[in-house]
Amino acid sequence: FRLVLLGPPGVGKGTQAELLCHSLGTCHLSTGDVFRAASCQHEPSPALKSALDAMKRGELVSDGLVVTMVEERSGCLACCGGFLLDGFPRTVAQAEALDELLQGQGVALDGVLSYDLPLAEIVDRLSGRRTCSKCKAVYHVTARPPHKEGICDLCGNALIQREDDRPEAIRVRMQAYEESTRPLADYYARTDRLLSVPAEGSPEAILERSLRELQEQS
Ligand code: AP5
Ligand code: ZN
Repeated sequence: FRLVLLGPPGVGKGTQAELLCHSLGTCHLSTGDVFRAASCQHEPSPALKSALDAMKRGELVSDGLVVTMVEERSGCLACCGGFLLDGFPRTVAQAEALDELLQGQGVALDGVLSYDLPLAEIVDRLSGRRTCSKCKAVYHVTARPPHKEGICDLCGNALIQREDDRPEAIRVRMQAYEESTRPLADYYARTDRLLSVPAEGSPEAILERSLRELQEQS
């Protein structure tokens, strides 16, 4: 499958991406993860530095920089097991660039899994998220707590809160989503590629719903 995961911040795209990749054997590309990994660079270029500053505030990174970054990883789009894009595209301009990129490779998207959840639950998922400072495993203080508070089950390192999970940054991210990303649902619906999946319930229940949508569509 060649898929895009669409949905507001904190809806559970990263969690579903992990489960879907495991069941479908696809390659996973998260633009947010790539930018966060780049934040460790000692001397980031001015363009990367301004992208990381925008991220901290909860704003979107510029389309040009994001598209270049995806183009540099276009090998992932040619992966024979298919791919799963998480957090990209996020604007209509990015979606058009992706369609062009795929056209150039002679392939097309199979579908766009679009997740949605009421705002109060989104805020709860974001504010309760904790991430391992070393291996980046994702937890939630109540829904997916580690065995020992504040410590990663997998590598024993400290869990931290993402900088953009602070209340002010969450507000900015939700606004960016409403303004720039929600219109993408229409973009994909017009070409019959949108698969809507409610994101309530356990990660496993949502995975099952997602797989059912994919099966019905194919
Ligand atoms: P990105 O990293 O893409 O963040 P996001 O879209 O805001 O999404 P999140 O990672 O916050 O949430 P998620 O939906 O993956 O949820 P998760 O599974 O972690 O982007 C970050 C920033 O990078 C952007 O703001 C922007 O600046 C920049 N950027 C990235 N891509 C860009 C692009 N294409 N264009 C421009 N800028 C870009 O789950 C959240 C929490 O809920 C976790 O604690 C989890 O354990 C818990 N949880 C998950 N599922 C469930 C469930 N079913 N029940 C209960 N809890 C659950
Ligand atoms: Zn860890």
